[in-house]
This record gives sequence, structure tokens and C-alpha cells, in this order.
Amino acid sequence: MVDTQRLMSRKMDIDRPCAARIYDAFLGGSHNFGVERRFVERAEAELPGITEVYRDNRAFVRRAVEYLLAHGVHQFLDLGSGIPTIGHVHEVARRRTSEFRVLYVDNEPLTVAHSRSLLDDEPRAAIIEADCRDPESVLRSPEAEALIDFDRPVALLMSAVLHFVPDRDSPAALVETYRKALAPDSHLAITHLTADHDPATAGTMERFYAETADPLVARSARWIDALFGDFEVVPQGTSHVTDWRPDPDQASAVPRYRVVHGGLARKPG
Ligand SMILES: C[S@@+](CC[C@H](N)C(=O)[O-])C[C@H]1O[C@@H](n2cnc3c(N)ncnc32)[C@H](O)[C@@H]1O
Repeated sequence: MVDTQRLMSRKMDIDRPCAARIYDAFLGGSHNFGVERRFVERAEAELPGITEVYRDNRAFVRRAVEYLLAHGVHQFLDLGSGIPTIGHVHEVARRRTSEFRVLYVDNEPLTVAHSRSLLDDEPRAAIIEADCRDPESVLRSPEAEALIDFDRPVALLMSAVLHFVPDRDSPAALVETYRKALAPDSHLAITHLTADHDPATAGTMERFYAETADPLVARSARWIDALFGDFEVVPQGTSHVTDWRPDPDQASAVPRYRVVHGGLARKPG
């Protein structure tokens, strides 16, 4: 049983850095404050080049969305979306088609407020303030009902969000609930912090985020892969995000830090 009272209790907090604005600061966006920019400076001082990890994750999302559009999936439910700038889902989609729908979901109030104003002139995309740990509040929201047809394939994106869901909130069971709500040919994309290849860097990131409004936890690639359940993983399988269907000009690039694992999978018919 989801404790919705606890999940709804997140208040606006601009004194501590938050994950959404930290990510925006790493991507070079303008929706962040001094606390987040100082976080980036400290992280870069301890882990030079760590900015690439964030850009590589966002590049994974872009390639996943391009793959999905090319395979006829035009509806996107993006949980833990952050601020939808710097090449996010609707920006990628509208370069390819006018037939898309995107529902962004985030639980950080100011992120949602910023995003709402950014999406004002885009009727095919919306954002709701909701906690992904409460699937009912997402799937039964008026915005989901207006934008997304759950009888047709949907791309569920859970990129760099599940590492913010602690074990006590049963992340695997949560993902299963979402998987069950999707029609055949829907897809699930996941990226997640892992300590498998570079435990020192993953440990440093956990330590850094422990002081933010959004502590995170690294998990094993094996644990992350199990989240796909009976969905069929898209070739070439799951991997470090930079190895996942890289752009031809990026295929030989060697990342400095290997701390984000992910992939994309399809719900069988
Ligand atoms: C690192 S950003 C990822 C942004 C985007 N998904 C991407 O990969 O490019 C993580 C986002 O998840 C959000 N988040 C964390 N926990 C959440 C929760 N329980 N429900 C909804 N959003 C959450 C944060 O506010 C933040 O905006």
C-alpha cells in the first residue's frame, strides 16, 4: 500500500541542491541556482570531467526517443523528467513528427512550475507534479487521461530516476506495476547509477548526493536488468549508456567514468 501522504509531503526547498536543478546545471541550462552551481563546481573538482556522465545520460535518452519514434511509438511517459530543456523528449520528437504526446512527471515543485511555463506553447506535451512511487496518481491523472492512450503503445522512460527510490519503497515492485499498465509493443527505458565498473566514483556520487534534497543509491547492472521483467530487451542489450546504440561518430569514444547502466525493452504482444 503506497503511503501517499508521505509521498505528497515534498516541499519547495531552495536551500539545498536538488537533483533536477543539479542535472540542469551540469547540462549547461539556466534553470538552477547558486547551490546547484556550487555542487557542480565541487563535483568537478573531485571528479574532473564528471559533467560528461550527465550529458551521456541525456544523449542516451535522445537516442532512445529516436529509436522509439522510428519504431512507431509516439507516446511518452517520462517519470522523473527534470526540466525539459537541452534536447529533451518533446524537442527530439517534434524534429521528427507532429504526431507525438509527452507527459512529463516530476515531484519537485519548482521544477514543475518552471517546466509548465516552458511547455506553455506546446499542446502535445505537459508536466504534472506527482511522485513516481505512486503510480495511481500518475496513470489516473487528468493530464495522463487527456494526453496518453494506454490502449496503444507507450514509451515509459525512467531515466536517472530509480536511483532516487530507496529500497524501502520497493522500486522493483513499482516498475512491475507500471509494466503491467502498458499495452503490448510499449517500451520501457531505464538508466540507473551503478557501482559495478567504478565503485569509487559511484561511492563519491552517493556521498555528494547524500547532502542534497535527493539522496541516491547505486545498484548492480544485474539488479537493474531485472527491472525489465518479461519485456524483450532491444539489441544490443543493456550496457553502460555510452555503449547503447552509440551515434556512429561516438562509437569509439571512451568515457572517463562508467557509472550509468541502462537499456530499452519492448512489451511482447
Ligand atoms: C537526474 S534527473 C533525470 C532527468 C531525465 N529523466 C533525464 O534522464 O534526462 C532526475 C529527476 O527525477 C526527479 N525525481 C526524483 N525522485 C522522484 C520521484 N520519486 N518522483 C518523481 N520524480 C522524481 C528529480 O526531481 C529529477 O528531476
